[in-house]
Amino acid sequence: MSKKRVAILISGRGSNMSALIDACKSADYPAEIVGVGSNRAAAPGLKIASSHGLKTFSLAQSQFESREAFDLALTQKLEEWHVDIVCLAGFMRMLTPEFTLHWAGRLINIHPSLLPLYRGLDTHARALADGASVHGCTVHFVTPGLDEGPTILQAQVPVLPGDTPETLAARILVEEHRIYPEALRLLASGALS
Ligand code: GAR
Repeated sequence: MSKKRVAILISGRGSNMSALIDACKSADYPAEIVGVGSNRAAAPGLKIASSHGLKTFSLAQSQFESREAFDLALTQKLEEWHVDIVCLAGFMRMLTPEFTLHWAGRLINIHPSLLPLYRGLDTHARALADGASVHGCTVHFVTPGLDEGPTILQAQVPVLPGDTPETLAARILVEEHRIYPEALRLLASGALS
């Protein structure tokens, strides 16, 4: 079996990244992580990636004159690694259509809501403000529209009395760490199109 070459893009702590790295350590998992990139040099997840022996890079928007130039440099970095699949894991940046179309079908994201509900930011606070009884997370293909691409997997959790955005986020994060590796397995094994 030839494993798919996967890069992960992060902006922060990288707990979903860690879940993907751990999954890829299984001999029968159909993907390997070849490196991790970030738009924030200080992202704590970059140090974790390095501690696993992975290559890393960071690019700052301030180095580029436009979003298009940034995204082109990002694609060039990923192409240098001969990447088959790109996983966004808390990569908090709007991507240009050029980038998403270049990687169409090979670019996936995890989002902390049951899409199409609660696209964008502050999903847990918005679900609580609405009095939602369930909430969750979604792994989806990335397309030019924000959080709009086809769903691969979702997981649902109950909203409990007394929940805060933090307690709800923690309950959902457990599910994120379960479904993201499973979704990548499906894509890398050719079970999705
Ligand atoms: C995760 O909860 C992920 O779903 C969310 O950011 C967090 C990153 O945590 N992503 C988004 O909100 C994307 N719109 P992590 O760095 O520990 O994986």
